[in-house]
Amino acid sequence: MSVRIGINGFGRIGRSIMRIAAAAPQAGITVAAINDIAPLDRLAYALKRDSLRGRFAGTVEAARGRLVVADRPVWAFRESQPGRIPWSDAGVDVVIEATGRFRSGDVARTHITHGGARKVVISASAVDPDAVLVWGANHHTYDPARHDVVSPASCGVNALSMMAKVLLDRFGLRGVQTSVVLAAQGWQKIHDTTSGTSRDDPRLGRATAESIIPHDHVAGDLISVALPQLGDVRYSYYCVPTPIGSLAELGGYTDRPVGVDEVNRAMAEAAAGPLRGLIDYEPDPTVSIDVRDNPASCLFDPSGTQTTADGGVKVRGWFDNEWGFSHRLLDLARLVGEREPVPAGARYTPAVV
Ligand SMILES: NC(=O)c1ccc[n+]([C@@H]2O[C@H](COP(=O)([O-])OP(=O)(O)OC[C@H]3O[C@@H](n4cnc5c(N)ncnc54)[C@H](OP(=O)(O)O)[C@@H]3O)[C@@H](O)[C@H]2O)c1
Repeated sequence: MSVRIGINGFGRIGRSIMRIAAAAPQAGITVAAINDIAPLDRLAYALKRDSLRGRFAGTVEAARGRLVVADRPVWAFRESQPGRIPWSDAGVDVVIEATGRFRSGDVARTHITHGGARKVVISASAVDPDAVLVWGANHHTYDPARHDVVSPASCGVNALSMMAKVLLDRFGLRGVQTSVVLAAQGWQKIHDTTSGTSRDDPRLGRATAESIIPHDHVAGDLISVALPQLGDVRYSYYCVPTPIGSLAELGGYTDRPVGVDEVNRAMAEAAAGPLRGLIDYEPDPTVSIDVRDNPASCLFDPSGTQTTADGGVKVRGWFDNEWGFSHRLLDLARLVGEREPVPAGARYTPAVV
């Protein structure tokens, strides 16, 4: 049976989810409702024409309080407070909280307590969710009795976790240090400003196109939550002005010295086997734009692999920070939305749009 989702915040992530779900109506997800503070006709326009993804493959209309997508009506609400959205009117099972404004577990939970949904997936690293579930790393720890508000961490954590898991499972891994270079986000600024950003770092008010902007971020902790065997993980994060396509690099020490070919073979085998669809392997020389529209959490780049005689290892992957992450949000929405237990290994099948 299809899981009925509601999307709070119809921005980059919200509209990516709509595009993915609309392209694969048989994949077990129905977008039943959306909520945003913008007028409905503007939301329809934004879905129809996208500067990065192109024109929507199907009809999009705003009619009588509904967003009609490929002839299927979707309830459209316009509330600014999560607790005021009547999700139950639309029969919503799972809310994907994608405004970026409501990352706290307590606030997100009002989609359940006030709105009538059953579960919430916060589309970002969150404050005090019931569980952090990174697909392919620890999503099997989901407990329907205890976990109502869950977070998949961030797109960068998902990309790094896939490479870390392969190294950990095959060779052992410790002393992990990571870097993410993230494509521009909508909340960044065209010119220097002192206002508007919700984050507590003055560098994020600097002009996006002029700088590589470092950002202190604690996401390394979340890789350790997903893969506790790693111990402490260090994380650096840099914002760059490219519009889409991000980079993840991970270094550490394996239990024994390994060669470059051995590492790359392990990644290729994972991509063809247990992590199929979550990590992709791309032997061609790649740059960041090449990852656009890739639904995997990580596009592994074997040309980035380096090793040292004392067991040092460094690997590189790319990720479409919107598209891959939106697929993982749908994986999670389907997992938490199922009323019956999900068979082992079952998951949302990524659709290439
Ligand atoms: N974009 C990515 O690559 C990416 C990747 C992973 C995770 N995320 C996370 O996903 C979340 C959303 O990111 P995004 O890039 O999709 O942001 P976005 O494009 O700014 O989308 C957020 C949408 O929510 C709307 N909104 C703001 N306040 C609202 C409210 N009170 N009620 C209802 N709607 C509201 C915004 O409207 P206005 O524009 O009018 O404010 C906007 O349409 C963030 O937490 C982000 O960190 C993003």
